[in-house]
Amino acid sequence: MDKGIDRRDFLKLIGIGGALIVMDTGRLAGAADNKMAQDTLSFIQLSDTHWGFNDPKINPDFAGTLRKAIAQINSMKSQPDFIIFSGDVTHTTDDPKERRRRMGEAREIIGGLRLKNVKMMPGEHDAGLDNGEAFQEYFGTTHYTFQQKDVNFIVVDNASDSTSSIGDTQLQWLSAEMEKLDKDSRIVVFTHRPLFELYPQWDWWTRDGAKAIDILMPYKNVVVFYGHIHQEHHHMTGHIAHHAARGMLFPLPAPGSVPKRVQIPWDNDQPYKGVGYRSAVPKKDAYGYDLTEFPIIKV
Ligand SMILES: [Fe+2]
Repeated sequence: MDKGIDRRDFLKLIGIGGALIVMDTGRLAGAADNKMAQDTLSFIQLSDTHWGFNDPKINPDFAGTLRKAIAQINSMKSQPDFIIFSGDVTHTTDDPKERRRRMGEAREIIGGLRLKNVKMMPGEHDAGLDNGEAFQEYFGTTHYTFQQKDVNFIVVDNASDSTSSIGDTQLQWLSAEMEKLDKDSRIVVFTHRPLFELYPQWDWWTRDGAKAIDILMPYKNVVVFYGHIHQEHHHMTGHIAHHAARGMLFPLPAPGSVPKRVQIPWDNDQPYKGVGYRSAVPKKDAYGYDLTEFPIIKV
């Protein structure tokens, strides 16, 4: 983030949450910006935008939050290599027409990003009711690979299958794609649901995720980024790090911390608390990624 956003706006952030409370937010954002200016790869992950969700008690700015994030990202002096939306781009609906209307609107708003290298993948809200049919019409295939600089990216769809599974066909594909890569190459996997059993009672898992982790395990430098749980979360399975991103519209409670998985209501004293997006840059001379969490700024 750079001078494109007024410094006074950054000062308003103090008290919002996380590491930002104790840091000079302008400097923090500047540091992330400088990292993204280096030759190394950088990307931004946005997750769970839930376009179509419209409960003002949960987020009265349901129509504006995504647009604010896009304006913030557009104002960054150094643009990342790509931006990925890691699922639940739209909020679920039983109506196939409405689902498509939401997809169309989300695509139009996301099209406002200055950077055009944008990757999309589905969440169960997008794809769980029609096996990804509408999502594919608007955003293309749901599992794919791509490369940026020296990093290999693999997008795994664990949302289109309504049983919270990847499925054997896709697992075979994953295995074949991994076999093309050296055991020490840099690999990033994007999924919507966590691959490990974070909290299956709340569907915070992937039924056959252990099979995917088994496929990844022989590779020394694999990191998984995901969404779905609407909060930052970090977990290791062996040497593989799993990083959950916050949602873009509302936070959810910590796994199992309350009896029901309910959206956390809006707090007028701390607007946009618990929502936002992140940038990721590979660590220098080490495995893993430096993450910077960006809040939504009230403008
Ligand atoms: Fe979600």
